[in-house]
Amino acid sequence: DKRVKTLYFDNKTHSLCAIDQTKLPQKLQYIYISDVTTLYDAIKTLKIRGAPAIGVGAALGLYACALRFEDNTTEGFAYSFKKTAEIVRSSRPTARNLFYAVDRMQNAVNRAEGTTVDIMLGELKAEAQSIFDEDIAMCRCIGEYGAELLKDGSTVLTHCNAGSLCAVEYGTALSPIYVAAEQGKRVKVYADETRPLLQGARLTAFELSEAGIDTTVICDNMAASLMQHGKVDIIITGCDRVAANGDFANKVGTLSLAINAKHFGVPFYVAAPSSTVDESIPDGSEIIVEQRCGLEISDYWYSTPMVAPKAKCDYNPAFDVVPRELITGFITEKGVTDSIV
Ligand code: MRU
Repeated sequence: DKRVKTLYFDNKTHSLCAIDQTKLPQKLQYIYISDVTTLYDAIKTLKIRGAPAIGVGAALGLYACALRFEDNTTEGFAYSFKKTAEIVRSSRPTARNLFYAVDRMQNAVNRAEGTTVDIMLGELKAEAQSIFDEDIAMCRCIGEYGAELLKDGSTVLTHCNAGSLCAVEYGTALSPIYVAAEQGKRVKVYADETRPLLQGARLTAFELSEAGIDTTVICDNMAASLMQHGKVDIIITGCDRVAANGDFANKVGTLSLAINAKHFGVPFYVAAPSSTVDESIPDGSEIIVEQRCGLEISDYWYSTPMVAPKAKCDYNPAFDVVPRELITGFITEKGVTDSIV
């Protein structure tokens, strides 16, 4: 299989191998991860990012760590796994896929309790492989169902990066665009640059333009004007966690996009695999929104600071929560639907 993968398990080094997304678009560089400190850091600092990729990375990374545990008694192994899993769980708070994957890996160890370390490792390997395979399959299905919403000549607006770089491949929100292109439809994409970390400008624009898709980057504050001028047929974004009632968290800026879309009557679809759905949360008010360092607003990505030195940058939520009623529907691996559960 020659398709570029965002992350995979490298059988030569027995490590998680992932594209370092902080280096894009300048460099396509892979990192190899086999210890918990590096794994935690990679997720925290967005080397591995995007909800599905965080989940798959946690699963493959936990297996790589487990291969190297020093205490090889079954009790010692199970204890080391629990501690390692707790550290990985604390790397970021919002994307449901992280907890979904860590829980599945922990359950794999629990199932094998009282057997041998080899059997526990076998369970972990199989579980990580399933999470990896399911991610590819779910994203592909999202693409096939979502492509039905796109016509030849459609113009799509998207926010942040929910493409092949946010998952093993295909991605969520951009998967319908890739499938539509395979079907010979010409689709034009407007990509919000996505302040402050510029996942739209650096990542979405990179992967779409490399795939030959007509892509224009806009500043986030241009989206309303674009809609007002009738230049957007459909908005598709990904999401990081969906509550049982369909409220969802996505990259900050999605809320104003949804409000504007409602105002201008532009259809707005959210693409999500079932690993992003959190049925334990009744509505969006319970979603924990990550607050990140203000230097992301003032300094990162700029050669000199962009904010007056005496001003504060102490409000930097990475996500916002969008009420269900603002959007048209969801694209999941099961189809285009009104209700996510
Ligand atoms: O902070 P990130 O880059 O991990 O943010 C996640 C995102 O890219 C978006 O919110 C995305 O739409 C959801 S991931 C499919």
